[in-house]
Amino acid sequence: MRLALLAALAAGAAAPLARADITPTTKVTGIGYLGCQVLLQGLEFGDFNETLDDYFAERLASRWWMTSAVYCLDTYCKDTFDENYARFNQNFILYGPGPINPDPNYYRAMTNYSAIAKIDVTTARSKATIWNQTVSGTQLNFNNAYRTQLDFPQTEVYDHAFGWALYILLGAIVVVNMINRAVGHFSHKAQAADPEDGYAAVAADDSSLGARLNTWYRKHIGTPAAFGYRHNQSVGWGWLSVPTRVQAIGVFAYVALNFIFTFVGYDTFQGNMFYPGRTDLQLWRYVSDRTGIMSFWNLPLLWAFAGRNDILIWLTGWSYSGCNIFHRWVARVATIQAIIHSAGYTWFEMQQGYTMAEAFQEQYWATGVFATVTMSIMIPLSIKPIRAKVYEFFLMAHIVLAVATLVLLFYHVKVMDGAYDAWLWACVGIWAFDRLVRYIRIGALSYKAFGGKKNTVARLSGSLEAGSLVRLTVQSSIKTKPSPGAYYFLYTPRSLTPWENHPFTLASYEDTAEGTKFNFLFAPQAGATRKIAKRVAAAGSSTEMTVLLEGPYGQVHPVGSYEHVLLVAGGSGITSVLPYVYQLARAPRHPRKVTLVWSVRNATYASDVLSHELAPANTAGIDVHVHVSREDGASATDVIDRLPGHIASVDDTSSESNSGAADKEAALVSKEAGKNGATLRVHSGRAVMRELVEQHAAQLLGAERLAVLACGPGAMLDDIRAAVTDAYGTAEGKVRGDAIRYYEDAFGW
Ligand SMILES: Cc1cc2nc3c(=O)[nH]c(=O)nc-3n(C[C@H](O)[C@H](O)[C@H](O)COP(=O)(O)OP(=O)(O)OC[C@H]3O[C@@H](n4cnc5c(N)ncnc54)[C@H](O)[C@@H]3O)c2cc1C
Ligand SMILES: *[C@@H]1O[C@H](CO)[C@@H](O)[C@H](O)[C@H]1NC(C)=O
Ligand SMILES: *[C@@H]1O[C@H](CO)[C@@H](O)[C@H](O)[C@H]1NC(C)=O
Ligand SMILES: *[C@@H]1O[C@H](CO)[C@@H](O)[C@H](O)[C@H]1NC(C)=O
Ligand SMILES: *[C@@H]1O[C@H](CO)[C@@H](O)[C@H](O)[C@H]1NC(C)=O
Repeated sequence: MRLALLAALAAGAAAPLARADITPTTKVTGIGYLGCQVLLQGLEFGDFNETLDDYFAERLASRWWMTSAVYCLDTYCKDTFDENYARFNQNFILYGPGPINPDPNYYRAMTNYSAIAKIDVTTARSKATIWNQTVSGTQLNFNNAYRTQLDFPQTEVYDHAFGWALYILLGAIVVVNMINRAVGHFSHKAQAADPEDGYAAVAADDSSLGARLNTWYRKHIGTPAAFGYRHNQSVGWGWLSVPTRVQAIGVFAYVALNFIFTFVGYDTFQGNMFYPGRTDLQLWRYVSDRTGIMSFWNLPLLWAFAGRNDILIWLTGWSYSGCNIFHRWVARVATIQAIIHSAGYTWFEMQQGYTMAEAFQEQYWATGVFATVTMSIMIPLSIKPIRAKVYEFFLMAHIVLAVATLVLLFYHVKVMDGAYDAWLWACVGIWAFDRLVRYIRIGALSYKAFGGKKNTVARLSGSLEAGSLVRLTVQSSIKTKPSPGAYYFLYTPRSLTPWENHPFTLASYEDTAEGTKFNFLFAPQAGATRKIAKRVAAAGSSTEMTVLLEGPYGQVHPVGSYEHVLLVAGGSGITSVLPYVYQLARAPRHPRKVTLVWSVRNATYASDVLSHELAPANTAGIDVHVHVSREDGASATDVIDRLPGHIASVDDTSSESNSGAADKEAALVSKEAGKNGATLRVHSGRAVMRELVEQHAAQLLGAERLAVLACGPGAMLDDIRAAVTDAYGTAEGKVRGDAIRYYEDAFGW
């Protein structure tokens, strides 16, 4: 019975009508027959054959029902009778046992026109009379029935239109973004082609409306965190992360649309034939349908923002971590919609007298409830503390629950005869595509290591306890030319957890006869990275192993096209900055001034990197400043003392630190460094981000521009972001919007 109702409604959905068509005085269109079906809904006829057990078969075999229906068409759908009769027939072919008699006169002849029961169906229904004659409802009955059956398809049209609206909005944002990117790309190219010194001489155009708007945009929209100053650091006991302001605008628009779409486009009225006098029931039915359908529309978005290999990322150049923010918000919205859908339907069914036990007998019900549960569990299991402390557990649980949700949902919508499978298949498709491309990438870069061939040398710089670094040199199976900023996921297939993979930025690479050698540098954490470090320690200070590479991911920041570049790194964030250092040091016509500022707390770590990756030979023309922050009690002297003699020579002209005492502010320029214009200075104490940005902004002449690129701990990145935001402005000492550009690479999402 209920299924039959669904079928009848689905039939109506095929022919949506404009809103104006549902007023009672309206002209009846080609779906008037559905009005007649709804009018007769719930009436019992004496010649219904119970054993047929099929809505349409039972009616086709009933003389009283068929003559009543044809009489209804004759009375209330006069002008469009032929069309309605044809569709009425079609309905029996589609959902029932087959065609009715093609000639309506067949049923007219069966009608005893002097014995038609003229009734008000709403009162007749409640009396539960069994009719042994042709029945006709009133004009008002028909109008209400017609409006009732229009409302479902009409509401459903809105349900889907709102779903499309989300997709169209996202599509528009993607297109605008692509255009923006293309324009930016070409203007960078054009500027980079200009004569090197031209910029200092060209006066900055900062009075035009466009320039002022750009400054306003960068200061108030483009750069800052949504509110307050934290973006990389979490808030609320470490549970929440705050997006940047542009991201927040996107998130807000998305959430607001979903919110509004939950409340509009419903027509509830007293005369509704399914729920007469119960506008609350009508409303909840519509809201439940709306939220369920919107949740389905949101699912592919949820997946689209989650993949590593993601068309959205390729088209827009958005960062994975940015997409992740949207992934989380879409997840929250879709889950809330699923909860409203479930709660709404539960209330709705209980109001109609069903019990929970009865409801759970139905597959669509039970699977729907469980899917809502799995979705709801995923949200608290994904909070930042869990991701930070037990990342692998989070990942496993996330995947298992996501698969469970999809499977449950396939069963949930089985009653809809595949009408809702497309959204689920879209999710499966997006997911499968990502996985497939991952394997292709691994295969391309590492196929020669599949047999367990040792393609990697792992080295530990000192003892494990001393906070030493691990250097991995991985031989890839093919020759490639990675760009700066690229990161790769590393797998250790011969470990206990071969599926585990962690992202690392490529520090540098060398071409060899066999392929390309990838150099990674990492600071061991608690998990897989620690295991690798232990393994190396157990073997002495270096060992060979098998590592599979998956990549490259991430985007190149075009810092080379700016006249000034400030690279800022904190701790192991230096690895992300190294490729840019090498690129800029090598560039035939590199920016006028490149500065690297690295804050590091461990003297061992600092001197290690300074003696290898950042040795003067690699940093031609770059000013390197190392700040040894005091958390671990180290000072500049500790670093300098550990540097090999040919690099370190204390520059006696350097001033004593004004904080005095043993903290010798050591400036040193090696004999070797001097030759290629590289300078190295080691300072005790933290670098103050605000001063750094202000100082570099003040050095800009004319139309020159500064790129700030940072990678490091959250607090440091947030400090720089705030400093860059403050640097913009039209006041004295502030810079115009296009003069500074902030790029950020964070080691996490
Ligand atoms: C794009 C990117 C590039 C990176 N490049 C470098 C690098 O060049 N050098 C370096 O030292 N570190 C880098 N990191 C950080 C590095 O990936 C983590 O330190 C490493 O995954 C920790 O592994 P673990 O099992 O030892 O960590 P755990 O001690 O288990 O966790 C430490 C932290 O790492 C996070 N984490 C663990 N696994 C992952 C993962 N698969 N994806 C994302 N986050 C994870 C956890 O949430 C936690 O906050 C990078 C991170 C990202 C996102
Ligand atoms: C009811 O339908 C069944 C199955 O088609 C048929 O066998 C039976 O004769 C019908 N009964 C009546 C009273 O028509
Ligand atoms: C039609 O209905 C009238 C009134 O009930 C009755 O007298 C008449 O016999 C019926 N005619 C037929 C053909 O059944
Ligand atoms: C119609 O017939 C059934 C028995 O077939 C009887 O129970 C019912 O009362 C009749 N209805 C009317 C309105 O006479
Ligand atoms: C820093 O380096 C020292 C050696 O100089 C080592 O003893 C210490 O454990 C390291 N600390 C950290 C946090 O890595």
